[in-house]
This record gives sequence, C-alpha cells and structure tokens, in this order.
Amino acid sequence: MIIKISFAAISAIFLSANMALSAGGGKQHIEDFAFSFEGPFGTFDQSQLQRGLKVYTEVCSACHGLRYVPLRTLSDEGGPHFTEAQVRVYSAENFEVFDADLDDYREATPTDNFPVNDSVGAPDLSLMAKARAGFHGPYGTGISQLVNGMGGPEYIASLLTSYTGEEKEEAGVTLYENTAFPGGWISMAPPLYGEDVDYDDGHSNDLHDEAVDVSAFLMWTAEPKMMDRQYTGFVGVLILALLSVLLYFTNKRIWAPVKYKSSM
Ligand code: HEC
Repeated sequence: MIIKISFAAISAIFLSANMALSAGGGKQHIEDFAFSFEGPFGTFDQSQLQRGLKVYTEVCSACHGLRYVPLRTLSDEGGPHFTEAQVRVYSAENFEVFDADLDDYREATPTDNFPVNDSVGAPDLSLMAKARAGFHGPYGTGISQLVNGMGGPEYIASLLTSYTGEEKEEAGVTLYENTAFPGGWISMAPPLYGEDVDYDDGHSNDLHDEAVDVSAFLMWTAEPKMMDRQYTGFVGVLILALLSVLLYFTNKRIWAPVKYKSSM
C-alpha cells in the first residue's frame, strides 16, 4: 500500500515537471547548463566570476544596472576575490556615480554600489538570477528546478544563446525572436555574439562560454553567500547525525535494565 502511494506521488511529481517543461506555448526552451555551484558541495568558480564580470562591464552594463551590489564585495572570498587595490582601480575606471554632496558625478569607489541604469528601461540584474529561478509563467512551479537542477542561471544563459535571428516591428518597437523568452519575442537585441570581450585568462570566449560566465556572475550577485549557507547546512546535518547516534546509545543504556529483567 505504502509503496503504491509513494509510486503514485513520484509519478505525479515527474508528470507535473514534464508538464511544466512543455508548457509556455510549447515554445520556451531552457537548456540545462552545468554550473560549478550546483549540488550540495558546489562552489563558485573564481575565474569564471571574474570573466562574467568582464562581460557584464563591457556589454550588459550599457543598459542594465546592478543597484543592490556593493562594489567592495568584488574582493570577497568565495566571490570574484579581486584584491582591494584591483577593486579600487576597477570602480574608478568603469563607473561614475552621482554624489549629492558634490552635486556632481565622480568616479566610483569600492564603498559605492554598482550604478543604477534606467537609460533604456532594462530591468536591474542584481537579483535576476533568483527572480527567474522558476522562470516565468507556467514554468514557475520550481519543480523543474528540483527535478532537473535548472534555475535562474540556466534561464539567463539560455536567453542569451536562443536568438533565432528573426526580427519584427510592433508599435514602433523592434522585437527579436528568442526561444527561451516566454512568448518568443523580446525587445532586447542579441547582446552577445561570441568574441565580444577578450578574457585576461585566455579562456574561450565563444557565445556559449560568455553566456555561461555572465550567468554565473549574475548568480553570485543574486546570492553571494550561497557557499556559506551550504556549509552551515552541512555542519547542521553533521551535528544532527551525531546527536542521533548519541541518542540511540543513550536510549539503549536507559532501557537496558528493563530489557534485561523482562528477558529473565
Ligand atoms: C542595448 C541594451 C541592452 C543590453 C546591452 C543588454 N540588455 Fe538585457 N535587456 C534589455 C531590455 C530592453 C530588456 C527588457 C526586454 C523585454 O522585456 O522585452 C532586457 C532584459 C533582460 C533580461 C530579462 C529577461 C526576462 O526574463 O524578463 C535579462 C536576464 C537580460 N536582459 C540579461 C542581459 C545580459 C546578461 C546582458 C549582457 C550580456 C544584457 N542583458 C545586455 C536591454 C539590454
């Protein structure tokens, strides 16, 4: 009976996962990319985050802000882990922020956040990887994330690599066909074609790699403390396991005299 019920439950989960995948007009397709931070012991790949930052800086930041991300966190361990001096130079070279005291713009410093960018109405990317963890619409059950290990970074990497090349004009707005975007048409022109940035570490910069790198970077901006959380969870499980063993033996010991008597 129990086996039957659990079998029914399991098939129900798989069925709804498949339904979630095939929903969305049957058009939206999200590819399952392998990221270093997946799984209970996954970690961010420091060089990948550095490469992703470069893609963001040289391409995406033209339209998208990262308003919730403090520049100083670029030197955090577990993140891109630049030196503080590098972050100072990077901030000053790439961004300007409005300073109310000066009533003017000045070079950014590590104490500032990445700037806001409202120039073309593109959404802020700070938390995008978490906002799209269950994708849009009918995808948003979270089940495909659970069953297939797919989430926000997969969605972003798929979005960047799923332009078909078709365009159309609608009410004066150019829309680009994209098989990862719900509805199939997005107003963001393809931002990446491959070889858009030159990586300092000589890593391949084809479209696929650039898309995956910037998606990993955006996962870090959305959840910089993911490794800490996983570690805390792991320690928690370990302590609970130890406690169970101790309780087992304590229990045996407490009941030993009673058991001993009853078996006489
Ligand atoms: C020329 C401006 C421009 C550039 C450059 C650009 N984007 Fe966009 N992006 C947009 C606009 C506009 C939208 C809103 C599109 C819409 O909703 O139709 C958008 C939307 C998005 C979305 C949200 C899609 C959704 O599910 O709602 C993501 C993710 C995204 N961009 C990622 C990126 C990344 C990563 C880069 C850099 C590789 C980038 N964009 C570069 C203009 C840009």
